[in-house]
Amino acid sequence: QDEALVREALLGLSRSYAPYSHFHVSAALLCGDGSIYTGNNIENAAYSATVCAERCAFFKAVSEGCRAFKAIAVVGGGQGAPASYTMPCGVCRQVMMEFCNPETFEIVAAISESDYQVYKLKELLPEAFGAL
Ligand code: THU
Repeated sequence: QDEALVREALLGLSRSYAPYSHFHVSAALLCGDGSIYTGNNIENAAYSATVCAERCAFFKAVSEGCRAFKAIAVVGGGQGAPASYTMPCGVCRQVMMEFCNPETFEIVAAISESDYQVYKLKELLPEAFGAL
């Protein structure tokens, strides 16, 4: 399951729009019903309008009606294949917190299908502020 999710994320890397940082990021989000939504970073000349790959995937899924999530794979790097693990930024972790159970939701930070690390959201966003 993790390998399949990483594969989807790697396939999406070419769709990253990153003309400013040249850092390409792609994510594949596994929903409760087994469907997968991909996302990639989309940068903007006004830098703060940039959206990360993870939030792109979440907003695509939520806007299509998905509310249950199991895991997200994330890959990133410069041109070519990823060389190190790309960890979700703080804002993306907070968006995950809005929709996911921090005890069970998994973040798969990957370099390749055979080289990845798995974290629970709770580990990456301890003492989180959750939905009221
Ligand atoms: N970025 C992501 O898409 N996800 C992450 O987890 C880290 C950072 C993007 C934002 C920006 O387009 C580029 O990577 C450099 O920060």
